[in-house]
Parts: sequence; structure tokens; C-alpha cells
Amino acid sequence: MNRKSFLALSGAALLQLVSPFANAATGPTLKPTKLGQIIIWRKKKYTAIKSGKKLVWNKGVAIAKPKPIPPPEVHGTFDIDLAASEEVPEGMTQVFFPKDPHAQNKSFFVTRNDSVLISFDSICTHEGCQVWIGMPLLLCACHLSAYDPKTGIPVSGPSVRPLKTYPVREELGRIILTNTF
Ligand code: FES
Repeated sequence: MNRKSFLALSGAALLQLVSPFANAATGPTLKPTKLGQIIIWRKKKYTAIKSGKKLVWNKGVAIAKPKPIPPPEVHGTFDIDLAASEEVPEGMTQVFFPKDPHAQNKSFFVTRNDSVLISFDSICTHEGCQVWIGMPLLLCACHLSAYDPKTGIPVSGPSVRPLKTYPVREELGRIILTNTF
């Protein structure tokens, strides 16, 4: 055997060692060792069955892609733990993106004035864009509506309706918002 063919042979052997299925086109070439043995190969599940006296793999069954599980639907009201109390000091407004699966894609403003907490939706009441904290107002970049952070009432721009408010309270050093549908 010349050097070239020796190298080619070694490569093929190595490939077989690393991946016992490397040469298989229609099914696994790895030999089953006991009845009922299961292997997963190329998105199919194969089970070892008897064919005469021999153990062979069955035809294989395609493995279904797991479907994402949607968060359970919730109707009515539920509480969302938004943040620690100290995250909204006196005179400040903060925006929170809760991790609660029932409030996915939602964000809320919480403002504290004269020791009273108020919470608003962060969706502009004009055409539904995200509202952000500006200084000193809450601003929507879409058409430049501006809201008073103490009341959620629009002070300029095309929006005429106040931001939706939510009941909010403090419990054991946490800010809890009650989401409503
Ligand atoms: S959507 Fe906010 S100003 Fe138009």
C-alpha cells in the first residue's frame, strides 16, 4: 500500500470511529446490541427489533418538533412584582419591563410623588407607540406626544387621552402592580 492510499484509508477509518453513521444514507449503521434499544439519528427515533434471528433497526419514526407552550391565558386581574421600592425614589419616574409571563411585551411607568406611587401603561394613547422617559416629561417618539409623569395626562402632541393607570402598592419593600384586562 502506498502512502497516499494508506492516508485515505486511515481517514475513512477515523471517520467511522468518530461517527459510526457517517456512511449511512437511509438509516443508522451502528449495530443494535439489544432488543428494544433506542437511538436518535437524523431527527428520527430508531428501535432495535428482531428480523429472523438478527437484531436490526426499525424504519424509524420522525421526531416531532416540540411546540412552544404559550403562557396560560389570564382574565381579570393579577399582581405583578415590578421592582424593589428603592428603585423608585421620591420625585422619580421609572419604566419596568416585568418578567411575569402574563405581562410579556408590556412595560409600565411607576412614579413617586409626595410619597404616593402611581403607575401608567407605557403605550401611547395616540397610535400605540412606546412612550419613554424624557426630561421632564414622558415622550412618544412617533408623533411627539408628551405626557405629565405625575398624572399621565397628555400635555402636547396629537394624543388627547391620558395613559392608562394601574393600581400599584408596596408590600415588604416591593412594588406590586395589579394588571387588569
Ligand atoms: S403614537 Fe404616540 S404620538 Fe402618535
